[in-house]
Amino acid sequence: MTSLADTASRVRGLELGAVDYVTKPFVRAELAARVRAQIAVRAGARALAEKNAELERTAAELARARDTLEAEVVRRTDELMATNQRLTHMNRVAAMSELAASIAHELNQPLAAILSNAQAARRLLQKNPPDVTEALAALGDIVDDDRRAATIIQRMRTMLKKGAPRTDGQDLNELAREVARLVGNDVLLRGATLRLDLAPGLPRVRGDGIQLQQVVLNLVVNALDAVADRPPDRRLVVVRTRGDGKDRVVLSVEDSGKGIAPADMERVFEAFYTTKAEGLGVGLAISRSIVEAHGGRLSVENNPGEGVTFRCQLPVWEEGGA
Ligand SMILES: Nc1ncnc2c1ncn2[C@@H]1O[C@H](COP(=O)(O)OP(=O)(O)OP(=O)(O)O)[C@@H](O)[C@H]1O
Ligand SMILES: [Mg+2]
Repeated sequence: MTSLADTASRVRGLELGAVDYVTKPFVRAELAARVRAQIAVRAGARALAEKNAELERTAAELARARDTLEAEVVRRTDELMATNQRLTHMNRVAAMSELAASIAHELNQPLAAILSNAQAARRLLQKNPPDVTEALAALGDIVDDDRRAATIIQRMRTMLKKGAPRTDGQDLNELAREVARLVGNDVLLRGATLRLDLAPGLPRVRGDGIQLQQVVLNLVVNALDAVADRPPDRRLVVVRTRGDGKDRVVLSVEDSGKGIAPADMERVFEAFYTTKAEGLGVGLAISRSIVEAHGGRLSVENNPGEGVTFRCQLPVWEEGGA
């Protein structure tokens, strides 16, 4: 409040930070009104600043909550993936342990042959004069049988291996043959027949070889279980591969077993659903999740005659594709 009423003074006063400029003489009521206006402006600004601070606090809280949530989602996802991987591995070990007896039996053949050839070689070398030619032949057989045994063990170890999935182009026919070799002796011991009906020249599918092999193994072991109490000439399992001429390849496992009641058709894919005394009930659940993770589908239907067919549809691998 001042008696300097010239414009320059007014401008200077306001520039120096005054919020208003009142010249004397003044009118009381007007001064009171001006002061009231300034109080209202100040109160408004303060309220705004408080609101602003509050908003900033809320935003910071939200950001913190989001970070915590994100970290939690990442942690849970990691946990889930680890559990999944463990469960998948457990299922593989369980499937392999079902085959353990037959694989041990299978190993016995080369081992017995190695023993008898080793004994023969010793005898041949102890002869006078030693029969080196025959002894060498026996040693050659020993090498072959040892390789056979090593292959059987390698096959087992591949399936029992732990590890993160890898993505490659997979030949479904080769995969089916490998599973057939793996269960070969089991099929014999069960008095069943496993037939391969593989379409030549199929395009590769995209995926992890061990996991896809695990799917086929689960389906084949289930099929062998399903035909177990059929008469021997009807214990038939057929593994078939077909292309659809476009972008999918289908592998199916058909059995002549007891079939599945319509009401249980979808339940068989539920985790821990089993009708077997020794079953974990995870084979099909894991198989379906593996197939879906590969962008495919796993379904089942009853055959027109007897038994069921599980159908595993997988997208073909486009090299360099997404
Ligand atoms: N080919 C089949 N024919 C008839 N029933 C089947 C066939 N495959 C699966 N099933 C039924 O579905 C159930 C679930 O199968 P799944 O492979 O998930 O578990 P499992 O074989 O019981 O145990 P595991 O975890 O050792 O595989 C089986 O117990 C069986 O009742
Ligand atoms: Mg099973």
